[in-house]
Amino acid sequence: MKAKRILSGMQPSGKLHLGNYFGALKNWVSLQDEFECYFFIADWHALSSLYEGPGRIKDFSFEVAVDWLSAGLDPEKCTMFLQSDIPEHAELHLILSMIVPVPWLERNPTYKEKQDEIKNVDMSSYGFLGYPVLQTADIVLYKADYVPVGIDQAPHLELSREIVRRFNKLYKKKVFIEPGAKISDIPKLNGLDGRKMSKTYNNAIFLSDGEKEITKKVQSMLTDPARARRDDPGDPEVCNLYPFHKIYSPKAMQDEIAADCKTAKIGCGDCKKMLSQTMIEGMKPIMHKRQEFLACPDVVKEILRAGTLKAQAVAKSTLEQAKQAMKLK
Ligand code: TRP
Ligand code: SF4
Repeated sequence: MKAKRILSGMQPSGKLHLGNYFGALKNWVSLQDEFECYFFIADWHALSSLYEGPGRIKDFSFEVAVDWLSAGLDPEKCTMFLQSDIPEHAELHLILSMIVPVPWLERNPTYKEKQDEIKNVDMSSYGFLGYPVLQTADIVLYKADYVPVGIDQAPHLELSREIVRRFNKLYKKKVFIEPGAKISDIPKLNGLDGRKMSKTYNNAIFLSDGEKEITKKVQSMLTDPARARRDDPGDPEVCNLYPFHKIYSPKAMQDEIAADCKTAKIGCGDCKKMLSQTMIEGMKPIMHKRQEFLACPDVVKEILRAGTLKAQAVAKSTLEQAKQAMKLK
């Protein structure tokens, strides 16, 4: 028996990119050996920004499942499911929404930030304000000890703990446990243009990209702007491309590139050629597994179905305990 339980989710807003992989997924893959893990596709959360064209969410969710499996999430080691397949998430969200004061949600920094950031969709919905309440329901239904999240999600988790305390105090029973954040070291990786890697910025390298796309994208990458001419020396520490070498290239190559960049012995073009090669090599295992899973969608669906069965049993039992504590049952 694995001692502690982990839960995390990802919104299906499209195919996963290297930012998602190194920011979360790779970490999940290693956590599944040590913890009892529940990972789910947060399709109801995706509705908060995709409500004008919700038909895309189904395909996006399938893509995410394929990316997860290709990256190494293993149904023998963890439980994977789709949020909307387990209506208990919605029911607990409704119950929690009755005990969460609106000011707690209004002061949540991501609520304001996202509204400023997302300009093409009206993000002032009731549902989006309650995003962290649904997220809390997701977590506490499984009594997760830890939630691996990026540092940007830390305020959400703090709110989850406040909600748990409020529930347990109101109904005088420790039904839910306060989830801890598990914040991992994330290598600093930006997109092709130097901004945060994101689908909306059109600057991402996807797990689904093939050799040609990777080569083309690497060629277009921003490097050290000080190297305007071939014989201008560069600095790998400020270069947007060098962090990728740190991930994909052998240490000896990294060191040689750093030295040759500083003395202008190599040009950025040479450096990019080397990166495309090591990156393609490094991504091959995922590429191959992706092809296999894409060729048998029924296998993917069956994995999610089995995950749902297992997760739903846990969710049902927790929801039952919550209702009993409230004397609703
Ligand atoms: N908010 C997360 C994201 O944007 C997705 C998510 C939903 C989640 N519910 C969660 C993450 C519960 C961790 C735990 O990716
Ligand atoms: Fe960056 Fe490589 Fe160009 Fe140096 S040579 S600036 S490390 S791309």
